Amino acid sequence: MGDRISWLQALLDVRRRSDGLLQSPQTWETQYAAGRWDFLGTLSELARFSVLAGYVCHLKPGAAVLDIGCGQGFLLRRLPVSGYSRYAGIDLSASAISNAREHDSERSTFLVADCESYVPEEPFDVIVFNEVLCCLRHPLHTVERYRRSLSPGGLLLVSLCTAARGSTAILWRLKQRYAPLDEVRLTHDARKVSWVCAALRPRED
Ligand SMILES: C[S@@+](CC[C@H](N)C(=O)[O-])C[C@H]1O[C@@H](n2cnc3c(N)ncnc32)[C@H](O)[C@@H]1O
Repeated sequence: MGDRISWLQALLDVRRRSDGLLQSPQTWETQYAAGRWDFLGTLSELARFSVLAGYVCHLKPGAAVLDIGCGQGFLLRRLPVSGYSRYAGIDLSASAISNAREHDSERSTFLVADCESYVPEEPFDVIVFNEVLCCLRHPLHTVERYRRSLSPGGLLLVSLCTAARGSTAILWRLKQRYAPLDEVRLTHDARKVSWVCAALRPRED
């Protein structure tokens, strides 16, 4: 019940203050510091993390993984240690990153950065956009920019909440540019929340 209230509260706050999830770094920071996004680590969000972690392990076992908009690092906590060789998470919120660092390891790094300007120093086998694209001003341009940081044969993993503003258009346009290897829809029955998770491969230019 508390989990459901947190979700509704987060949605109401977001809608009241901003254009959907496109909100200022300060707003993210305030919300994380207040624990508003802690519910993302609860059981009712597990399904989408499990699908993304499963894609990493099945499609690119031992991958170097870049998690864009990683929040409090829940994806790293869901990844089996044997499933990745290197993990980097970036997020706007210093509070979220500080929390994420409590669970890091010698193979993981967390960085406070704006993904719309950050440029990775190394290539990655898998780049994850887990519930972050609807938070960005230029989601498709951003994905395209990170494509340059994919290793040959690398994959993009995406999760989009279907209720988030722009999610359908973003997914449709992504699929014009990238070939879907797999796509699933998940619904949490009690919460009536759905997500689309997809594994995408750059099409040949
Ligand atoms: C809905 S939360 C999802 C967090 C996490 N990926 C998850 O699935 O639980 C969106 C995250 O994107 C981050 N974010 C929003 N805009 C960003 C930007 N421009 N650069 C980096 N992170 C950003 C927020 O701070 C927040 O942690």
